[in-house]
Amino acid sequence: MTESMSVSFSYDDGDVDTNRTENPSLNAMIDARYSRRDALRSGASAAAIAVFGGSVLTACSPSATTPTATDPGPVVAFGTSGNTSAGRVVTLTGTATDNGSIAAQTVFQLSGPAVTLIPGATAGVFTFIAPAVSAATQLTFRYQANDNIGQASNADATVTVSPAQLGFAAVPKNRSDVVTVPAGYTVTVLYRGGDPINASTPAFRGDGTDADYANRAGDHHDAVYYYGLNAAGTARDDTNNTRGLLVMNHENINEQYLHVAGPTSVGGARPESQALIEMENHGLSVIEVSRSASGTWSYTVGSSFNRRITPLTPMTFTGPAAGSMFLRTVFSPTGMAGRGTINNCANGYTPWGTNLTCEENWAGYFRRPPATDNPLRTQKEVVAFTRAGVSSNTGNNGWSTVVPADPANTIYRRWDARVTGASATADYRNEPNQFGWVVEIDPYDRNSVPRKRTALGRFNHEGAWPSNFVVGRRPAWYMGDDAQNEYLYKFVSANPWVAADAQSADRLAVGDRYLNTGTLYVAIFNADGTGRWAPLVFGTGPLTAANPTYSFADQADVLVNPRLAADALGATRMDRPEWTAVNPVTGEMYLTLTNNASRSPTTTDAANPRSYVDAPSTAVGNRNGHIIRLRETGDTSEALTFAWDIYLFAAGSDLNAANINLSGLDDTNDFSSPDGLWFGRPSNASGQINPFLWIQTDDGAFRDVTNNQMLLAVPGTVNDGGTRTITNQTGTTQATRVGRAPGSQLRRFLVGPVDCEITGIDSTPDGRTLFVNIQHPGENGSVTTLTSSWPATQATGTAPAGTRPRSATIVITKNDGGIVGL
Ligand code: FEO
Ligand code: CA
Ligand code: CA
Repeated sequence: MTESMSVSFSYDDGDVDTNRTENPSLNAMIDARYSRRDALRSGASAAAIAVFGGSVLTACSPSATTPTATDPGPVVAFGTSGNTSAGRVVTLTGTATDNGSIAAQTVFQLSGPAVTLIPGATAGVFTFIAPAVSAATQLTFRYQANDNIGQASNADATVTVSPAQLGFAAVPKNRSDVVTVPAGYTVTVLYRGGDPINASTPAFRGDGTDADYANRAGDHHDAVYYYGLNAAGTARDDTNNTRGLLVMNHENINEQYLHVAGPTSVGGARPESQALIEMENHGLSVIEVSRSASGTWSYTVGSSFNRRITPLTPMTFTGPAAGSMFLRTVFSPTGMAGRGTINNCANGYTPWGTNLTCEENWAGYFRRPPATDNPLRTQKEVVAFTRAGVSSNTGNNGWSTVVPADPANTIYRRWDARVTGASATADYRNEPNQFGWVVEIDPYDRNSVPRKRTALGRFNHEGAWPSNFVVGRRPAWYMGDDAQNEYLYKFVSANPWVAADAQSADRLAVGDRYLNTGTLYVAIFNADGTGRWAPLVFGTGPLTAANPTYSFADQADVLVNPRLAADALGATRMDRPEWTAVNPVTGEMYLTLTNNASRSPTTTDAANPRSYVDAPSTAVGNRNGHIIRLRETGDTSEALTFAWDIYLFAAGSDLNAANINLSGLDDTNDFSSPDGLWFGRPSNASGQINPFLWIQTDDGAFRDVTNNQMLLAVPGTVNDGGTRTITNQTGTTQATRVGRAPGSQLRRFLVGPVDCEITGIDSTPDGRTLFVNIQHPGENGSVTTLTSSWPATQATGTAPAGTRPRSATIVITKNDGGIVGL
């Protein structure tokens, strides 16, 4: 159930003019200051107007008489915890004494943006979360006490709320094996790799002897999204802050910790049991979580919503490439059926209540030695597989080497993409084409079959974050292709948004409407701060059979091979596009470009301008990454052009300020390799008026200084800075566009444990609970040489010797119950 009940607004009727307090009666005050006409004239909020409009007409409760000469009413006092800023907790404390006794105490709001008053444990004490405001704003409240014979007294108090600001002191960089957060915040570990999701699954031992990972948390927790449930836990309720589903990706594995003594092979063949464990540690979790009355979060073992989706889960293909020759295999001769999803990295959501999971580094899982396989392929296939990077001699983890106990079991064989049969439907030569997609999942129906949305193209899908949804406008999803020198894409649905679709019971059918037809575009960044979206539409421009590099056959061919299409369109080669995030107020899109080892001083451009050395490494490239942002022309997701600048350049604060540390970072906010990127939800003050941006890092270059981290920022807007010309490593110069330096509007909030990446973030709708994923702590260690034992270390900083590390979801709350970060 929800954690609080809002106090209904209640008023005296003001008919009896015998009030002995100094305060005017409410009606008198309304007449004097808050009439509908005055409120409109003074610009009072619509909510306040509605409150007063209703109350004046209905004025009813609480019923009370005012004190008389023969019985003094309660003697009251009313105070506040003081002026504050948006998102913080305000306490209103009313006290009353009486010659008889106090029968009732209540507080109601007289003016300012409407807030929800939460009764405290002590009568007369109420709290609320300060609302979002664009300028200092007064909120006035009235406390009323009734005595045992119904006489009432009241007192008023005012709180001034300022615009939201960062509400914590920067966390120092550190290399401790714990998650460090600012004073005033608490970390709890919620859901760890190996945790059972069903009661029938044994408790996790963590010594490499565990099995049945189809019923345990997977490894490498990545993107996460919170989907609300109703209080009864039976159905969707987007507004619930205390009970919901977490949908999270399990991107990859630390295989050294999954087996007793690390992975093994016998005669070149992986043991079947080990390969199954490794596969089932990939995919996604859907788990129910809830907050107890005492405020502690836990996941619900055995919830009927709990589900693991793995590389073995049946899926279907939809969109223009579904059923095409590219997707046909011996398992799926029609090209419509798929088995599972892999290397799920970042995510996206839809307003109709589904999750978009994104297949990122899928290519390496397939065995396809080019030297022996290329000669058996058509020239087009060789070009396509080479461009996609399907060129591993063994495939990750060697899964295809398993000799299964059941010879008919092809879940291992399918990772062997060599041409071995007489045709494409006699082997798994096309199996790699079944991966690299965005997959839509309905978290509220554990029996639903996930749908791969081919209209969004096939590449190293980092994430798929939507534009803001506007009724009547075609929505878009922004998608990075995370590899060196790859592209930024945008998919624009063919269908304008219809608000009623948000509440459809058949969520995947709504997905069919918006995600199966539309146009995929790729971004071209011009040096002058403008840019355009080039459409990947077969038959237009170079996307025809006559294209010299790759002869496109149809739209399915374009969508299976969008990198080749984008090459032909002259798309801008970016410094590894990772997450996208969309400002919920302005619609501006932010994109992390994590780093690029192959960006040389001679291949920079305005949007990817740096190539330098960050000691102790001697390598030259964009070592620390940056965050670029764009504003669509006309502020519409349908736009074909945009303006851009670089919001933030990551760098150590010791690096050259003129050419590398271009954003002027200091000890409180220097960082490297931005990856996760997420704006506060628009349902609370962190995502309203001037939304806050969380930045997560996945870094190697800065690990000599600090473990990976998470920062919070109040970003500005596109073109709030200016142009700069920088000098790169070899003395070559590059002009670029630098956003306003963040100064104190960027601050380190969290540092993770050893060898981890910080990734995945979401909150409850009220912003008071933050979910963050800690991925692969101790990734550089081994069973015999552990570098981390997190999360067992979290409570005390130490753990029993030999404790293996586990990826995990953590919960972060502010100790006073305010919005996290504010
Ligand atoms: Fe899975 Fe590009 O991060
Ligand atoms: Ca009395
Ligand atoms: Ca990532």
